[in-house]
Amino acid sequence: MPGVKKIIVVGLGYVGLPTAALLARAGYDVHGVDIDDKIIDCLQNGDCPLGEPEVASIVCEALESGHLQASKTMETGDAFIICVPTPIRPDKTADLRMVESAVKSMAPFVTKGALVILESTSPIGTTRNVIADGLRQQGLDPVEDLDICYCPERVFPGKTVSEILHNDRVVGGLTPRAAERAKALYESFCDGTPVTTSAESAEYSKLMENTFRDVNIALANVFARIAEEASVDVQEVINLANRHPRVQVLSPGPGVGGHCIPVDPWFLIEGRDALTGLLRTSREINDSQAERLLDRAEEAGLSRGTKVAILGAAYRADLDDARESPTEHLLSLLSERGYSWVTHDPYVTHMHMHGGVEPNLTADLDVAISEADAAFIMTDHAVYRGLSPEKLLKMKSRIVVDGRRMLHDRSFTDAGFTIIPVGAPVMSAKG
Ligand SMILES: NC(=O)c1ccc[n+]([C@@H]2O[C@H](COP(=O)([O-])OP(=O)(O)OC[C@H]3O[C@@H](n4cnc5c(N)ncnc54)[C@H](O)[C@@H]3O)[C@@H](O)[C@H]2O)c1
Repeated sequence: MPGVKKIIVVGLGYVGLPTAALLARAGYDVHGVDIDDKIIDCLQNGDCPLGEPEVASIVCEALESGHLQASKTMETGDAFIICVPTPIRPDKTADLRMVESAVKSMAPFVTKGALVILESTSPIGTTRNVIADGLRQQGLDPVEDLDICYCPERVFPGKTVSEILHNDRVVGGLTPRAAERAKALYESFCDGTPVTTSAESAEYSKLMENTFRDVNIALANVFARIAEEASVDVQEVINLANRHPRVQVLSPGPGVGGHCIPVDPWFLIEGRDALTGLLRTSREINDSQAERLLDRAEEAGLSRGTKVAILGAAYRADLDDARESPTEHLLSLLSERGYSWVTHDPYVTHMHMHGGVEPNLTADLDVAISEADAAFIMTDHAVYRGLSPEKLLKMKSRIVVDGRRMLHDRSFTDAGFTIIPVGAPVMSAKG
């Protein structure tokens, strides 16, 4: 892209690092900055701190080519891309401290004519109020002297590289000139269609996408609860309803996870209580699904004090990401109610739990099952599809809560198990 040779990527996590590597592959000189020693040490040793194989391969290739370098020190560049986390605080308000500190560290290095892009998911107004204002304090006029944009990322973990390359992209500029420059940058290394708009519309579009998913999943979970009460199978009813050409009900489950869907709706709710009751209720429904599963298990005979096996820590199938996963909610509840537990996951090796609750992770399914009285299927990892009654026979209570509808046949109930499927009546040998 004309006028841009060197790009600074601030924040080298799930979004920033693959983006930096793809820019390097396209021929830019990319300097990645992160505050995490472990990430920088790993990259400086030529390795990739992320496990996704395609990401690791392009990162190692970019490091080897010399087009990608990483350090904890900021440098000057023609363009800056900010990909730092934007979490919520315990009171559900946006915590923008990492964006603020990224801007502060960049400001002395941003010179007239630079293109500055925020990719972090952010409340409406962040690009103008935090990025532009932070850079104005350097004596630069953010509109005249700089091109500042908001360009959200939509990557689907597990398919990160192809999603960065091929997804359409919303490019929101503080000015039309800024949007056109950012559009040209993305066109130079991605083949999805970039659509230009204002920074505020771009910020809102990202929040709207994830809020749409949260509300629709909450609706499916309400349908599941009604089905449980009405003794019908919600999945059968959803299949019937989805034959309507304009209806597409999603699947119920144990709740939602990741750092996007459970977080982003709060950025719209904050300061708009009177307008956003539907959004808040949806958040509460999805966050309480794990409690619903545990309540149903107790109604079916699960006793407090027993040991349970949690099958799956990740929030999505066949991934190693457990951030904000429904399993986190379940573990907190098990702790409150006096259970002990072991959590099996073939991919997750670490969980950052709130409140000091230990996840007790193991990658050995036999160990998890042989130590437990009952099981909760929380993630639809492929490995759980092959579960057989024989595999679970050592469990004393023989209660399996199926939060993902993985166990379909009667062989479990024939073997004396009580199965509690989300969205369907309890199944046991008696009925
Ligand atoms: N991961 C996804 O699938 C995804 C998808 C869409 C949007 N997003 C959004 O993208 C943003 C980044 O998410 P992520 O998943 O890449 O986060 P992440 O936690 O994987 O990585 C962020 C990195 O930023 C670093 N960092 C924090 N403060 C910094 C600072 N001041 N200077 C330099 N580095 C700093 C952290 O050390 C970390 O390595 C978030 O706003 C997130 O909501 C993520």
